[in-house]
Amino acid sequence: MTSSVFKDKVVVITGASSGIGRELAYQLAAQGAWLSLAARNAERLETVSAECQARGGRAITVQTDVGEQSQCEALIQETVKNFQRIDVLVNNAGITMWAKFEDLQDLGLVEQIMRTNFFGSVYCTHHALPYLKQAKGQIVAISSLTGKAGVPTRSAYAASKHAMAGFFDSLRIEIAEYGIGVTMIYPDFVSSEVRERALGPDGRPLGSSPVREKEVMSAETCAEMIVKAMEKRKRELIMSFRGRTGQWLKLIAPGVVDRIALRAINQGR
Ligand SMILES: NC(=O)c1ccc[n+]([C@@H]2O[C@H](COP(=O)([O-])OP(=O)(O)OC[C@H]3O[C@@H](n4cnc5c(N)ncnc54)[C@H](OP(=O)(O)O)[C@@H]3O)[C@@H](O)[C@H]2O)c1
Repeated sequence: MTSSVFKDKVVVITGASSGIGRELAYQLAAQGAWLSLAARNAERLETVSAECQARGGRAITVQTDVGEQSQCEALIQETVKNFQRIDVLVNNAGITMWAKFEDLQDLGLVEQIMRTNFFGSVYCTHHALPYLKQAKGQIVAISSLTGKAGVPTRSAYAASKHAMAGFFDSLRIEIAEYGIGVTMIYPDFVSSEVRERALGPDGRPLGSSPVREKEVMSAETCAEMIVKAMEKRKRELIMSFRGRTGQWLKLIAPGVVDRIALRAINQGR
């Protein structure tokens, strides 16, 4: 039986036009959630919105570049204008890279990744906080195993995801007194468009994925696991066995974790 924890709950999802964010929207819509869908691609958002409504949810779309603070503020204001409150903010919008640091032609790539993944989450969270306080709501942040360990070809991405962890782990303590929960999500490889869009050494999207996309977790399964963690208001979810064991291994043999990360990148899974 489908759960209905999020029935009539107002959920803002950034990066809802594709991949994990889109799947989350579909699964929450099936519970009857009221969704505020954000991303840059307005046309894709409209398609996701129509599907959410067909699945039993309510949905609005707000074209948003999360790297621009004013647009994050507008996303929150537009959500409240339409739905009068915010119960959950899912900071999911993100971009990655696939390049060694020494090969980068322009350090603008580092800034772009930090602006989207880290500052985008900070901006949306800051503007949503007053409403989350009223609702005793929940913040969900999609980090990555790269937010728990270093990964070659991902220096700036790892920095942005570690930054998210430090930021939200601190914020969790500050806002516990308001009854707001913070759930950190650490996915392993998930099949999506993230790698064909990954920025290469020249700062341009790779155009095709170096990962064996058919052999990694589906966005659907990933979203199911995230929804369960949200329902239980879990503190964090590390999504794979190697991710969970890596946490312990890091304490006693960190070099082994480095080798696992290198092998994952070389093998593309
Ligand atoms: N797939 C994986 O293996 C994996 C593993 C660990 C963590 N993650 C994380 O999971 C999250 C979702 O990624 P995904 O795998 O679903 O990738 P995806 O299919 O590429 O989706 C990324 C989403 O983020 C949006 N986005 C990118 N830049 C944005 C910006 N400046 N402003 C607003 N929206 C923006 C994209 O929409 P527009 O282009 O329309 O703006 C898209 O909806 C990311 O934070 C990613 O780092 C993914």
